[in-house]
Amino acid sequence: MEIRLNKYIAESGVASRRKAEEYIIQGRVLINGKVVKELATKVDPFIDVVYVDDVKLKRKEKVYFLLNKPKGFITSTSDEKNRRTVVDLINTKEKIFPVGRLDYNTTGVMLLTNDGEFSNRITHPKNNFKRVYIVKIDKNLEVKDKEKLLSGIFLDKKKGVFTELSYVKERSYRIVRVTSVEGRNHFVKRMFSSLGYRVADLERESFAGISTDGLRQGEYKILSYNDIENLMEK
Ligand code: URA
Repeated sequence: MEIRLNKYIAESGVASRRKAEEYIIQGRVLINGKVVKELATKVDPFIDVVYVDDVKLKRKEKVYFLLNKPKGFITSTSDEKNRRTVVDLINTKEKIFPVGRLDYNTTGVMLLTNDGEFSNRITHPKNNFKRVYIVKIDKNLEVKDKEKLLSGIFLDKKKGVFTELSYVKERSYRIVRVTSVEGRNHFVKRMFSSLGYRVADLERESFAGISTDGLRQGEYKILSYNDIENLMEK
């Protein structure tokens, strides 16, 4: 994701945005070895090499975190109601954001990154990455409803479907494991509530093949891009 050159220079701490513009006009800024004087120039902070006079700006590094999200956190970078966010759980100086959303009280797999392209790829509906959830509902799931959930239900005129649905424990019909490729807001809850069930507890067990992998709620680990690629189901 490209950003304006003066913004990038300012974020690197070398000069204010306004000063950075002066430097650009004065021909003191190089991108990949070439002087640029055009104020509207954009750079890719992860790829381009920028010099201001003879100071080389630090290129941004892409970072990835795998969090087991606890209850009571919103998946956003800030909140107008001052609720805690999943970003608050991660100790980093990088400007990271959550990849997709989980509800305030949903637990489980949550990825955070500063890599916008990766985030778009993994969340884009056309890429069909699977989300697996463990769902506790308020009453036994009837067989006829199980069939409806697997054949599809219209939510806001768009059909939603679970591609798999199984009971987690023998002889218990209130805890089910569902799989979907949907990223719509409150999707799982809306699927169940459309048939009269209330979701009492929701955990995302895996996303694109990535699971919480022994992390307790609130714990996270750093992944490299290679780790992510290896974990991801293609
Ligand atoms: N579906 C929901 O209803 N909530 C979530 O947090 C995730 C999927």
